[in-house]
Amino acid sequence: MSDLQSMDTLVSLAKRRGYVFQSSEIYGGTGSVWDYGPLGVELRRNVMDAWWSAMVHQRDDVEGLDSGILMHPRVWEASGHVEGFTDPLVECKHCKMRFRQDQLGASACGQKPSKAPGETDSCDLGEPRLFNLMFETFMGPVKDAAATVYLRPETAQGSYVNFLNVQTSARQKIPFGVAQMGKAFRNEITPGNFIFRTREFEQMEMQYFVEPGTDDEWFEYWRAQRLEWHRSLGIRGEKLRLTPHGPNELAHYAKTAEDIEYEFPFGWKEFEGIHNRTDFDLGRHQEYSGKKLEYVDSASGKRFVPYVIETAVGVGRTMLVAMVDAYREEEVEGDTRVVLGLHPRLAPIKVAVFPLVKKDGMPEIAEALHKELRAAGIPSFYDTSGAIGRRYRRQDEAGTPWCVTVDGQSVEDGSVTVRDRDTMDQSRVAASAVRAWVQERLGGVA
Ligand code: GAP
Repeated sequence: MSDLQSMDTLVSLAKRRGYVFQSSEIYGGTGSVWDYGPLGVELRRNVMDAWWSAMVHQRDDVEGLDSGILMHPRVWEASGHVEGFTDPLVECKHCKMRFRQDQLGASACGQKPSKAPGETDSCDLGEPRLFNLMFETFMGPVKDAAATVYLRPETAQGSYVNFLNVQTSARQKIPFGVAQMGKAFRNEITPGNFIFRTREFEQMEMQYFVEPGTDDEWFEYWRAQRLEWHRSLGIRGEKLRLTPHGPNELAHYAKTAEDIEYEFPFGWKEFEGIHNRTDFDLGRHQEYSGKKLEYVDSASGKRFVPYVIETAVGVGRTMLVAMVDAYREEEVEGDTRVVLGLHPRLAPIKVAVFPLVKKDGMPEIAEALHKELRAAGIPSFYDTSGAIGRRYRRQDEAGTPWCVTVDGQSVEDGSVTVRDRDTMDQSRVAASAVRAWVQERLGGVA
């Protein structure tokens, strides 16, 4: 059994099986945007549903919100993004390639022969200049400075400006949280590593408002909760680690921060951040809007601007972690079996149903079962084409946990075989019991 060695292998599986396609591929593609295909949208939805269930539905102290991508431009002045959301950019004077100065490693420009046409072997880097990562656009028909708005680079600010709306309408008491999922945009200088770093992506963020003085304790709590959530989706513990930010790495708003990292084929990388944002954001919005953003404790009459513990994770990065972690190759009877061992909760297709042959009453039983599963909300796939072994292999690679085969015995006694993706074990189950069998293993999800 072997792990994923190279991202190219996953990129090609993702395209072959309909998980991820390059955006605008027929025009040569855009390297920084990816499109999710039929299985990719299902995986994405399953990731988001699992997060929403854990963060909102299973809790009394977190409320949902869906704020706009476009916000008042003052929001981004208050948040510090207009001034400080920058990366140091360096440009080669010859080939005009651009790089992030803080990511110039051994393989970067100036050290290695270049690849793109027009580049020189040894780049001559200019002085670094700060490059703001926010995408700008204009609201309304006039394209001038007064009409400039930004595509949000994080969902968090929508939760801060709505803090009192949510607290009062939901009658929440501190501590409580606001959760949001949605698109964010960053004009990254060096996007890459497939869906790891893109310019358009989705975040799942939760802002937890607490009384100052209790923030360290809540930081610890959320750090542990979030790590456990990834484990609950089957991600191997040895591939996960927590890394605290050093004083020079902290974002402008953070007092403490810790990353949840995964060991990708391209190294240990962050895919979730837990931040203690103190009262920085609410304090700045009070200052810039002139509106109070205080919490008033109804019992004691105490007033304060809450501190915020934030958990922030990307949907695309979580999908990538799930796919990389699930990928394996096994030798089976002299052949290589590729398996995407996704947690059943995340798997896009839960069950594939096959008639062994397209005659003798088997298709009718198989089709009826497939329809029954679909009607029960269980994503099922019906496949009649090719040898049964090839049909199993296609589903192994797509990540489908169970395959059901209708054979000659099924016509006689109403039983079918259920084959497990991971063990390849087959058991005989009554066709009429398959739906309940699957529902039991999905733990009520689907
Ligand atoms: N509100 C805090 C915040 O945005 P962040 O660490 O910059 O913090 C949170 O982003 C998460 O969003 C990251 O851990 C990552 O999963 C995802 N993310 C950030 N930039 C991304 C990018 N360019 N492409 C894909 N995902 C990204």
